[in-house]
Amino acid sequence: MTNKVYINGNIYAANDAKVSIFDRGYLFSDGVYELIPYFNSKPFLLEEHYSRLQKSLEMLEIENPYSKDKWLSSIETLLKSCQFENYYLYIQVTRGMPKNFDDNILREHAATKDYQTCTSMFYSKINSLKNKKISSKKAITLEDKRWMKCDIKSVSLLYNSYAKTIAYKSGAYEAILIRDGYITEGCSSNVFIIKNNIIYTSPESNLILPGVTRSFVINNIIKECGYEIRIEDFNEDDLLNADEIFVTNSTQGILPITHINNKLVKNNEDSKITQKLHETFIKKIN
Ligand code: PDD
Repeated sequence: MTNKVYINGNIYAANDAKVSIFDRGYLFSDGVYELIPYFNSKPFLLEEHYSRLQKSLEMLEIENPYSKDKWLSSIETLLKSCQFENYYLYIQVTRGMPKNFDDNILREHAATKDYQTCTSMFYSKINSLKNKKISSKKAITLEDKRWMKCDIKSVSLLYNSYAKTIAYKSGAYEAILIRDGYITEGCSSNVFIIKNNIIYTSPESNLILPGVTRSFVINNIIKECGYEIRIEDFNEDDLLNADEIFVTNSTQGILPITHINNKLVKNNEDSKITQKLHETFIKKIN
């Protein structure tokens, strides 16, 4: 494997990259992450990803280990070895290990000590989004059983990965989550529906991750295409009766959903509006 990994200032071959099992990220999922897409070797919406990283750290009261300049120079150091044109940069910051490690007490739930944060980064290849015709995918619906702080981009993704595995096993790409009858988001995406030429998506709250792609699509793409956007809650019936459905995230951009629970979405044949949004989107990514 030629991929390199950054851990606390050092670069390692991916196979040799190791952190302690006493890191609170490993023991308690006590950490946050960020995923920044690079298209044609250029970061897309870097500032927005950085500011969400900062917010996630603040919400868990983990000190940002680096200044912005140090982040940028560390990223540059790591990416020198990157041969890909399209890839994502994964960043993880965990609370780490206690600075003064006590032989007798190796694991404590309450984070009451002075900790040495652990910063790690790696990159991974993704497909180009530049194809004019987008591929479409199936989704299932599942109850949203995550904790109530889904606005933190925490590394605690157990329910997300559990639900996405159920989706995968039933031949779908995504599980769209429902809490108290309302759609929250996908396991790794934000959800939009289209009905009578109006586009709907759930408002920002503690129940969804404020997707960087979601904001960009709302504030740039939908506006530029001249559609009305309503940021309001919608329920499972609205989802099942939508004319078109699409999800957004950093690695997939805008992705139409053709089936929900194996039932065809109405206008899945052409997904006309979604297709137009996608074409506008790919013109922006370098
Ligand atoms: N996930 N909601 C959840 C729960 C997510 O995990 C993601 C992204 C999004 C979309 O956010 P953004 O547009 O900023 O990528 C929404 C990334 C891709 C991941 O965990 O791999």
